[in-house]
Amino acid sequence: MAVIPNPRFQSLEAYEITPQEPWQIYEDYAVTKLDWNEGAFVPPFVKRIARRLLSNDEYYSWYPDCAAIELTKALADSLGVSVMNVLTFPGSDVALESLCRVYLSGGERVLIPVPTYENFFTFAASAGGELVFVPLKPPFEFSAASLIADYRHDRPKVIYLVSPNNPCGYLIAQSDVREICRAFPDTLVILDQAYVDFSPDASCVDLIRACDNVAITRTFSKAFSLAGLRLGYVVASHDILKQVAKIRNGKNLGMLAQKLGVELLKRKTDVQQWIRQVVETRDWLSHRLTTLGVTHSTSYANFILFELPDPKYALAEFKRHGVYVRDKSKAVPNGLRVTITTRQAAAQFLRVVEKLVAR
Ligand SMILES: Cc1ncc(COP(=O)(O)O)c(C=O)c1O
Repeated sequence: MAVIPNPRFQSLEAYEITPQEPWQIYEDYAVTKLDWNEGAFVPPFVKRIARRLLSNDEYYSWYPDCAAIELTKALADSLGVSVMNVLTFPGSDVALESLCRVYLSGGERVLIPVPTYENFFTFAASAGGELVFVPLKPPFEFSAASLIADYRHDRPKVIYLVSPNNPCGYLIAQSDVREICRAFPDTLVILDQAYVDFSPDASCVDLIRACDNVAITRTFSKAFSLAGLRLGYVVASHDILKQVAKIRNGKNLGMLAQKLGVELLKRKTDVQQWIRQVVETRDWLSHRLTTLGVTHSTSYANFILFELPDPKYALAEFKRHGVYVRDKSKAVPNGLRVTITTRQAAAQFLRVVEKLVAR
């Protein structure tokens, strides 16, 4: 007789990942990978330090610093908060999953404005949450006032907000997040700011002083280009972090990621320069898409959501030209998403768009 899994998992849908072809073919072909919103700037000093660190046996044979002391201090200094308000994880996904595991139990409601980052659905559902989707209509403008008016009496246990939003690109003002936290005082408001380094004015870290029910997640995968090394963190009140720390497994946060995170924070001006280039390229591409008549949303992050008829055909055409973009058509009719990295990659992407539009 087959062993029966937890019933919660039997009905659970796995997060849909795209084919992982770039890993199989990149050694033989030039791949322009614009499908997962990874940062693409690995400065020479990072590689130099990585090489030096990896010549030490300890980096292979010792467990990492489970408390991530140096990294936590560097993050706290950089954010202007106390070390008691920062908790590190191997990627912000693990931070999101841990928040769900600690705060949700069977049948509690989780409010999620959609379209949004779908991996979170799996985290919330597997922790027992009942997902309540709040559909936004094109052009996908988020309204805190509507959310409060429509759901105030629903008593959700968790609200999941993403700002800048993936895939729509919109921002949620700090004052709106504060209003939501106040309107739902018994709710954990998870604010996912994975892309905030591309819009630093949208940072909501200050909110943790005024609101004890907000947890902000952030990552080194986007602006800091360390997606492969897995590094993320939560900024929140110490009361929240004390609970989440109970299930955090510090052994999973590798020492190379910790050290490189610290080094990148020390050399933030290099990263800021790269962010400026990404923003310039994004705005250039947005302008070009407008000229071509391609519908797309305004983005405050390192990607653009755009629309083309027959997205499956378009994806195949992009791939034929060595360009990988993301199919978002299940969430947004005819929707595709392109990551912004270099001007050269954006130009290569645009050449395929021009062919598709002229079809
Ligand atoms: C909104 C959002 N949150 C979190 C993540 C995951 O980031 P990490 O690599 O830190 O797990 C992503 C990755 O695409 C994302 O888009």
